[in-house]
Amino acid sequence: MGFKEDFAWGAATASYQIEGAAFEEGKGLSIWDVYCTQPGKVYEGHTGEVACDHYHRYKEDVQLMKEMGIKAYRFSISWPRVLPYGIGEINEAGLAFYDRLVDELIEAGIEPYVTLFHWDFPYELHKKGGWMNSESPSWFAEYTRVVVERLSNRVKNFFTFNEPQCFIGFGYSRGVHAPGLKQSLRDTLAMAHNVLLAHGHSVRVIRSYAPKDVKVGFAPTAFMNYPCSEKPEDIEAAKRSIFEMPKEVGENWAWNVTWWSDSVLLGHYPEDGLRLLKDYLPEIKEGDMEIISEPIDFLGHNIYTGRAIKADENGDPIYLTREAGSPKTALNWPITPECLYWGPRFLYERYQKPIYVTENGMACHDVISLDGKVHDPNRIDFLHRYLKALRRAAEEGVEVQGYFQWSLMDNFEWHSGYAERFGLVYVDYQNQNRIIKDSGYWYKSVIEANGRNL
Ligand code: FCB
Repeated sequence: MGFKEDFAWGAATASYQIEGAAFEEGKGLSIWDVYCTQPGKVYEGHTGEVACDHYHRYKEDVQLMKEMGIKAYRFSISWPRVLPYGIGEINEAGLAFYDRLVDELIEAGIEPYVTLFHWDFPYELHKKGGWMNSESPSWFAEYTRVVVERLSNRVKNFFTFNEPQCFIGFGYSRGVHAPGLKQSLRDTLAMAHNVLLAHGHSVRVIRSYAPKDVKVGFAPTAFMNYPCSEKPEDIEAAKRSIFEMPKEVGENWAWNVTWWSDSVLLGHYPEDGLRLLKDYLPEIKEGDMEIISEPIDFLGHNIYTGRAIKADENGDPIYLTREAGSPKTALNWPITPECLYWGPRFLYERYQKPIYVTENGMACHDVISLDGKVHDPNRIDFLHRYLKALRRAAEEGVEVQGYFQWSLMDNFEWHSGYAERFGLVYVDYQNQNRIIKDSGYWYKSVIEANGRNL
């Protein structure tokens, strides 16, 4: 047995990375609209103002998905497009856009998966202190209610947050993503706590305002390390390396699995994290952990890469150095297909929740060839290796519900701007022409065979 018969073969995007129409039809500013115009922040001053112009071209984009046989589409909602001030006044035109998109998807036989927050935080709420403000969980709950009331008669799957590790760690600790701040450890831990509370409140809102058949989860990320051999001690060491907190307090503290997922799925912060961060913790009120761990239906995980791990004589993990010349993507991310077997397996063992791979893919230096096509053999090889690893996990009993390729189309890659390309579809930013790459057609054949041809 390989992939389930109803496996969700998907592709993913995020609002700021593709929509454009940043200042149109009543949309409010997001922190990314502001950050991108600040000199020196984004590669060659690129912005998401136009991006893939998906706001105007969504019909064509849905048709491209249909042509590739894609069965599920994970996209995010722009909070300030729906609520220009983050709370209060609703922008009907913004909501109507998502309404039309959902209808178009359903019409094409594609299942919509909505991510509520993929980083484009409303600037008006940022001015009120953003995630530092203790009201922020209820702001997010209000926003959730607006979206869910409108879409949950047709959208049956929601993710609350995308990669809290990144937007807290890069945005507020290292300062390389919007809003570009370098706040103290105490501040970022307080924000993280509010984000987790916001997640829990959002789940509760979904349970009370959406029909019973609606499911919810979240979509964190981290390195998914893997053992260098299948010796039990190496497997154990790799698992430990995934689920332990960093050894040192620093600006990368947020880059871990357990601070986010133990709290959401097990109802407590990890012991080693509490010890490490004890001098910087926010107040954890009675009842907070119950809200944060409000039961969810599935765990999403964005999985791109991991490190090879060997056990030392005490069983402790040694992070192995890669050999010179090992394969990597255009963004220099190591290509490590093993992580798509071991990651889901370890996550499933620990959290016992059905899993979606909510993102996986690679950046390549894609070009239009003389024949007018986009040949991307490296991406095909990457996907082939990674999907075989995922199939092994499914064959061995890990409950894998779906896989979302990052990304449906080339798009605005945050501080790297349009420098590198992640899509199954090539986007010519000069004229907004789209070309399905070879990998898009290859993915179609995999979907048709439900992965049996891998
Ligand atoms: C993830 C983000 C996504 C995209 C990919 C390449 O960290 O969630 O928006 O940028 O990386």
